Amino acid sequence: MSASLPFPADFLWGAATSAYQIEGSPLADGAGPSIWHEFAHTPGRTRDGDTGDMACDHYRRYRDDVALMRELGLNAYRFSVSWSRLLPEGRGCVNPRGLGFYERLVDALLEHGIQPMATLYHWDLPAALDRLGGWLNPDSAHWFAEYAQVLFRALDDRVELWVTLNEPWVVVDGGYLHGVLAPGQRNPFAAPVAAHHLLRAHATAVQAYRAEGRQRIGLVVNLEPKYPATETVADLNATMRADAYWNRYYLDPVFLGGYPPELPEIFGAAWPTFPEPDFELIRQPLDFLGINYYSRQVVRHDVDDWPLNAGRVRQARQTHTGLDWEVYPQGLTDILEWVASRYGPLPLYVTENGAAFYDPPQADGAVDDPLRRRYLRDHLRAARAALRNGVDLRGYFAWSLLDNFEWAHGYSQRFGLVHVDYATQRRTPKASARFYADVIRGGGGALDAEDAGGDG
Ligand code: FCB
Repeated sequence: MSASLPFPADFLWGAATSAYQIEGSPLADGAGPSIWHEFAHTPGRTRDGDTGDMACDHYRRYRDDVALMRELGLNAYRFSVSWSRLLPEGRGCVNPRGLGFYERLVDALLEHGIQPMATLYHWDLPAALDRLGGWLNPDSAHWFAEYAQVLFRALDDRVELWVTLNEPWVVVDGGYLHGVLAPGQRNPFAAPVAAHHLLRAHATAVQAYRAEGRQRIGLVVNLEPKYPATETVADLNATMRADAYWNRYYLDPVFLGGYPPELPEIFGAAWPTFPEPDFELIRQPLDFLGINYYSRQVVRHDVDDWPLNAGRVRQARQTHTGLDWEVYPQGLTDILEWVASRYGPLPLYVTENGAAFYDPPQADGAVDDPLRRRYLRDHLRAARAALRNGVDLRGYFAWSLLDNFEWAHGYSQRFGLVHVDYATQRRTPKASARFYADVIRGGGGALDAEDAGGDG
């Protein structure tokens, strides 16, 4: 590892996507509906009534998309599997045509020298299971492990990196507490129960993996470092609570065997007692942890906002992305170092990082996206800083390969390195994709080039 090129030779340079956001054809070949299919088809739930019916048509165009990844020089790709394509009812009969899609996708990736990282759950629960209570049903852990086992048996000979859950925090906060994501519940009493069953499901799948898997399995969480707005005791305490709710909620039980002490206070009467043996189960050793990082939060004690939503201090506008998320690269270094010191040592991946900006194609068809290019450069530099400080970072996955269905925001927010014209499904690599390709080709060297990231 030289001073200027600290990225290890086997560093994974990837991009990430998820099934419902890109595949389209959600009911094709015998698939069952997912909660996202039903949610998006419920009037008023997504911007402009957008759905994933077509999305990026990746279900039919995956070969072209894999060729595109190859062209950009990616050596890794993180995707998710749609549970209800494999098990249309969520459990019971396996649909071989659904499984066949993922087998062909994985084979195409391997043919092109791209290492797959497969996420088992990126928010698209089979609707049939939601009708049985979804993540509120204690049996959900077993449903999940049964589904996971189908995949392990079919693909563990080819998939070296498995992820159980993507961002359980978002599943619970958006899906069960605030109702802005599927399944659309708004119930503080439901939230901690769903969270607990998600953690049990994660652990039960890891146990199933230890019984027959041979590669590596981990969890992906979204983390957002919290900084106090002032040094007052009130702000410092609010920052601790925000940190407990966002960052420690799903990691303390997995790595330390219990929930953060702030959570009962945060949830008040809605906080239940959990069976003690569950914590032994949840604490399964992991092979790696994936971190999704987008932004930070500056926290101010704000009685009106409390509980469950510490106040956000607004920063200057030009420092925010299209979703109003502050651009703060230093937060990536900080959160990687925090994870390594609190829960480590363990291999880490940045499993998502990216920015929503809208840059329409120019007259010649090219797409220049200077703000995304700069975001990418600055966050890769921030990841490099963590590596230099001794964090065991093994890879980086940009969110996202393609512009795609951004959940409740529909198609209004574009995160892709590659522009998608949804009317024609034409793909155009943006300037950020070309920049990323240069970075990958030079093992990170291009991050220091004079004009890297288009400052001018
Ligand atoms: C993350 C999700 C991903 C995408 C990005 C912008 O929370 O995992 O699917 O929506 O945010």
